[in-house]
Amino acid sequence: MLNQISLSIPLDRDGEEPIYRQLIRHIRMQIESGTLPAGVRLPASRDLARQLNISRISVVNAYAELRAQGHLSAHAGRGTFVSGEANGNMPTSNGNGSTPIIETQTSPDRSIREMMRLARNKPGVINFGHGAPPTEFFPVQNLRDAINTVLDRDGSTALGYEAPEGFSPLRAAVRDYVSALGIRCNADRVLITGGAQQALDLVVQALLSEGEVIVTENPTYLGMIDIARARRVQIHGISMDDDGIRLDELENFIIDNNPRLIYVMPTLHNPTGKVMPLHRRRQLLNLANEYNIPILEDGVYHELRFEGESLPPLKALDDTGIVIHVSAFSKMMLPGLRIGYVLTDNGHYERLVRVKQAADISTSGLNQRAIHLLLERGLLAQQLERNNRELKRRRDVALAAAEKYLPPGTRWNVPEGGIYLWAQLPKSGPNAAELYITAIQMGVAYAIGNVFYTNGCGSHRMRLNYGTQKPAEIEEGFRRLGRAWRELACDYSDIDKSMLL
Ligand SMILES: Cc1ncc(COP(=O)(O)O)c(C=O)c1O
Repeated sequence: MLNQISLSIPLDRDGEEPIYRQLIRHIRMQIESGTLPAGVRLPASRDLARQLNISRISVVNAYAELRAQGHLSAHAGRGTFVSGEANGNMPTSNGNGSTPIIETQTSPDRSIREMMRLARNKPGVINFGHGAPPTEFFPVQNLRDAINTVLDRDGSTALGYEAPEGFSPLRAAVRDYVSALGIRCNADRVLITGGAQQALDLVVQALLSEGEVIVTENPTYLGMIDIARARRVQIHGISMDDDGIRLDELENFIIDNNPRLIYVMPTLHNPTGKVMPLHRRRQLLNLANEYNIPILEDGVYHELRFEGESLPPLKALDDTGIVIHVSAFSKMMLPGLRIGYVLTDNGHYERLVRVKQAADISTSGLNQRAIHLLLERGLLAQQLERNNRELKRRRDVALAAAEKYLPPGTRWNVPEGGIYLWAQLPKSGPNAAELYITAIQMGVAYAIGNVFYTNGCGSHRMRLNYGTQKPAEIEEGFRRLGRAWRELACDYSDIDKSMLL
């Protein structure tokens, strides 16, 4: 028996507040006060519109907004329900034993935040949704020793404001470090930043004005989509083939739209894990030079390659200064220290420093000194070797578990490094957003794929960070994911029933 109510909503028909906004306000108040408890089914939009004598579209819009806020959830063919998370509970049964789902109309931004919140709140969830490296790899003892040494050596100087460009010995150490990757640069062209995220943000701020266009791979790094939104620049994604960004499409876009920046992740692209081969790297550089558009290269996963031929970063192939290279020590070692860098040998450096100073004066001097010492002591190289060995092992466990548990017709990449598996569910079944609540209830979370697209596509895609989980959890997480899919897929009429076995 479904637990459905009739709603009492006093509307002000002559007021300035649009009817659908009033509806949102009233329903939300009733949910928050407990008048509408979790699991209750709301009237169908047609019925509520008739009951209140308003247009159906007002109800549809109000329900959609409340779903996007996490207050309601919907189940195809069964109706709209008060979800649990808005008042602190996880959604449970919706009254007929089946599971409510998030609808796909939520904006990518909202659904990922909602996703993270749900996964974080529920104990026992195996969370493949993070972008972080495994915490057990963090060199806690080495860091403690380094900080003690720095404080003994530099005392209060280590705790003052640092130069906006960064701690000079670290800038020199970064120059030496990247020279091993084939990048030649002077230490005075190295800017130390608060992780790669700040480095990307500074470049966008320094090079683009509001309304101008940045072009990226599609899908791309979610943090760059966030930056573009926050800085009010337009972002356009170019589709990828096996070798990375498609240059024919890119060139057409450049001709028609005059973008100011091309943002790419040539090695271990996030989220697809793709590695751009050497010939495509050279062609991309030629194209950028031909149209004189700077390339922003994001190299945060470069050193996490555990398989395949090692390739030079774009910056190592750049002899005109068209490439701005960004990277960090986050994925390799210590995300929480927030140490990244930008390398640029074109005219942007001074402007980048000014933007950096305006943003936060300088990056923590203590953290810069600690990372500097870890580099000097050769600990990064040791750490990388150990990490990559373990990541490869976890990759293999994830591949085997995907084969064993994910539904037939699911496809995924075979990553040559890094921490992500990029999977595509069969189109005949639930998409990644629809599956999400069921998956959480079964104790597994992932990143919903369409948040990585600049145009909202990729609905059946999901990104699974196998790197953060131990092998037994990877196996169990994939098992739960397969179970969640089968449970939900029963409702899909296009499903071949043999896929549910
Ligand atoms: C491609 C990419 N670039 C940049 C970052 C941000 O790195 P950081 O933690 O150094 O700011 C991330 C983090 O997930 C990332 O995946």
